[in-house]
Amino acid sequence: MSKFADRSKSLDLRILVVHGPNLNLLGKREPEIYGTQTLAEIDADLEVAAKSMGAELTCFQSNHEGELIDRIQDSMGHAAGILINPGGFTHSSVALRDALVGTSLPIVEVHLSNVYAREAFRQISYVSPIALGVISGLGSRGYRFGLEALVAEIKSSHPA
Ligand code: DQA
Repeated sequence: MSKFADRSKSLDLRILVVHGPNLNLLGKREPEIYGTQTLAEIDADLEVAAKSMGAELTCFQSNHEGELIDRIQDSMGHAAGILINPGGFTHSSVALRDALVGTSLPIVEVHLSNVYAREAFRQISYVSPIALGVISGLGSRGYRFGLEALVAEIKSSHPA
């Protein structure tokens, strides 16, 4: 296969990775719940995993609902899928869910902690019903598993 063909394959597999509020504090924030890896380390590991899958990532974190929504809207026509940890907005944001639905892209939801083993309010997700699937409680490895699932879904729906 030529280099050119490889390149076009990776462009078809562009994934937007979205991290919601407070995830910029990973490593320092409640490490007994969220682990000791920083967000930069998680993103770097994901980049390596993405390369091995022929995918190209754009990673984005914000503490602001509107910024997250703007970034999700901007992915239309530029990404083939979205991997998202919506953080606390998981349990509160109709607007974030609407933005995700509006893209018509496949969505995989990730949580570091097992939200179903925690407070009752964390057991409600506005995103889960519109996601392809949810990975919760597997720590930072969950992002890689989510990425694998998303890439497999995109590949199966757009065969080369
Ligand atoms: C989280 C779980 C949410 O309930 C919480 O608000 C977060 C992180 C997780 O990754 O486990 O910020 O999404």
